[in-house]
Amino acid sequence: MSDFVSVAKHGGVAVVTIDNPPVNAMSFHVREPLHQALAVLRDEPSVAAIVIACAGRTFVAGADITEFGKPVQQPELRAVIALLETIAKPTVAAIHGTALGGGLELALGCHFRVAGARAKLGLPEVKLGLLPGGGGTVRLPRLIGVEKALGMIVSGTPIGATEALEAGLVDAVLDGDLLARAVRFASEMAARGGPFTPVRDRNDRLAVADLAAFDRQAAELAKKARGHEAPIACAEAVRGAISLSFDEALAAERELFLKLVAGDQARAQRHLFFAEREAAKVPGKDLSRRKIARVGVIGAGTMGGGIAMAFANGGFPVTLLETSQEALQRGLTTIDRNYAVSVSRGSLTEAARQQRLGLFKGSTDYADLADCDLIVEAVFEEMAVKQEVFGKLDAVAKPGAILATNTSYLDVNAIAASTSRPQDVVGLHFFSPANVMKLLEIVRAEKTAPDALATVVELARRIGKVPVVVGVCHGFVGNRMLAARGAESEALLFEGATPSQIDKAFTEFGWPMGPFQMGDLAGLDIGWRNRKARGLTAVIADTLCEQGRFGQKTGSGFYRYENGFRTPVPDPEVEALIRAKAAEKGIARRAIDADEIIERTLYPLVNEGAKILEEKIAARASDIDVVWVNGYGFPVGKGGPMFWAGLEGAGKIVERLDHWHERTARPIFQPAPLLRRMAETGTWEAAVGG
Ligand code: 3HC
Ligand code: NAI
Repeated sequence: MSDFVSVAKHGGVAVVTIDNPPVNAMSFHVREPLHQALAVLRDEPSVAAIVIACAGRTFVAGADITEFGKPVQQPELRAVIALLETIAKPTVAAIHGTALGGGLELALGCHFRVAGARAKLGLPEVKLGLLPGGGGTVRLPRLIGVEKALGMIVSGTPIGATEALEAGLVDAVLDGDLLARAVRFASEMAARGGPFTPVRDRNDRLAVADLAAFDRQAAELAKKARGHEAPIACAEAVRGAISLSFDEALAAERELFLKLVAGDQARAQRHLFFAEREAAKVPGKDLSRRKIARVGVIGAGTMGGGIAMAFANGGFPVTLLETSQEALQRGLTTIDRNYAVSVSRGSLTEAARQQRLGLFKGSTDYADLADCDLIVEAVFEEMAVKQEVFGKLDAVAKPGAILATNTSYLDVNAIAASTSRPQDVVGLHFFSPANVMKLLEIVRAEKTAPDALATVVELARRIGKVPVVVGVCHGFVGNRMLAARGAESEALLFEGATPSQIDKAFTEFGWPMGPFQMGDLAGLDIGWRNRKARGLTAVIADTLCEQGRFGQKTGSGFYRYENGFRTPVPDPEVEALIRAKAAEKGIARRAIDADEIIERTLYPLVNEGAKILEEKIAARASDIDVVWVNGYGFPVGKGGPMFWAGLEGAGKIVERLDHWHERTARPIFQPAPLLRRMAETGTWEAAVGG
């Protein structure tokens, strides 16, 4: 009946199939024929039951996100679901793949839901800065209880078919031919006879809901929201399900949804959703991919161990190479311990741990890397050491193997030049802890072959990473911008700010923590050693390190940590040290407010991003946003530094950078020409194009 929705009869059961690749989103061109089909089937006497199913790889994965922010075209999803609920004959959603957001809400409009064993069901709207706006907050609690529903809606994390069955979200988990079994299920229900109660009229779970307990749970959630509007709105909408009538709650949900969807946070999160997918696209669609079956990792230290785990978690056998048996054993023991911790926390089963450990092969002999298709080097950050390693790899690696470096700062072209096959060399810059952090900066060197690049981008997605392709420069995108963000930290301290004031400005902005808390967490000694090696100084941080104050691990750094707790306590001794050093330098201290802190840290961050874009180190402004949100904790609700520049106003940023440049003559404040063009044109795309 349409290209996107078709109806077939299987005896007395009508199967409505949605076919809207790639993920069967509920676009207008689906909703319209679906609404029509359901209206016809409702009144068609020869139809005893209706199954809603999807073609392709998944059930409906949600509303069509590209339609948000545009005028709504009728019928809305809510109207389709409302119509569904007027049908007296049994309606069954047959769920394979993922039923997400508006997809699950559509399924909640049916009397029954049956799912394939590998199906996942969830309401991930919160991750787009939204709440379920198709009745999900009102229907889900009716089906699975308030507490469980609130958890699913506020976390946005989908649950598997078995858990959904236990919770009452699905009525059956069906193996084999899902559609055939769903049809049988529907005809059995029709034979059993009604009346069939729509979810909207099931009130037994709500009747036992404890509003006071709910409010306590919601208050806890609000504390964790850190300025995010969506989780709080989600909780408010679910509260409505308990305290209001169905129709009133639905209307309240709608109102909250409309407010969120038009807001900056949701806009920022939609931007990030598409930015992540865009970043994972490499030019040259038809490029062949190299086959990656076994991965080698050189160096079993902090990064090498985590990288090896990341590949093993993705199912790849890994050869881990170290310089000595002791170092190798140390690395393997750490990996073993990390998996054991996951088991003790319940995030990994013992069987999965054993299976993963079985994927590791340790070695101290480079010849053992000969069967690896990808080899990632994670040895000390020294060019001479890296070049020696790549020279050895050149001798043993099989032809066509991809040779990757995890360097944080070094020149990948120079590393590639130490081999006879620079076309196979690429940077894979993982973030610590590498088995956890999502971001992967993929460094494309001058001679990196396009198919090698395409292979690692695809591989990154396969192991659950968010890849961003970047060019060669000192620190690539992330660490180079981080240096710009931190360049004024010490000056701000000397001029009058305290570490806790600066950190507070950051957390109020939405960062999970400020730069000094971060430094204490990572260990101040790392930066200290780096600076010494490069002949650099940072007066306050160096002095703290000379006093043995390395941060959390020594119980003090920029803050004190009392009785083994991780809570940073401002330390008068540090403040006295700052005052003394400022006096030595003849700097008069004054009050510094949060605005100034943001101007002198985050404006240079944006400015450096513009320079990076200008130099084509990043292909798109949105790639930079993906780096900062996934690797450095930039608040998702602000969309990344480049998106935020638009919210803040590029004109204002340029003006204040000019001001600080005039005052300090520091290059980090000199506005990039591209930033000035952005201020004129209003978008990065136009600025780059112009
Ligand atoms: N709307 C529009 N496009 C969508 C979409 C959606 N809901 N979901 C995915 N897409 C697009 C992607 O942009 C991508 O397009 P591209 O190929 O042009 O880049 C393509 O579909 C494939 O997506 P993925 O690369 O993400 O495919 P995967 O197989 O890796 O993942 C998925 C599939 C798990 C379904 C994942 O796409 C996903 O999580 N999608 C979003 C789900 C979601 O957030 N749903 C809720 C939407 S909001 C809503 O429903 C509001 C309602 O309550 C009113
Ligand atoms: P680390 O010091 O913890 O580990 C390095 C390991 O490499 C040691 O176990 C050492 O024995 C081994 N090694 C040294 N030379 C070797 C050789 N020739 N052959 C085999 N193994 C050798 O260092 P870390 O922190 O793991 O850093 C490794 C690399 O990762 C560096 O290039 C660093 O810049 C980069 N990196 C570090 C991050 C971090 O947060 N620590 C983040 C991202 C990248």
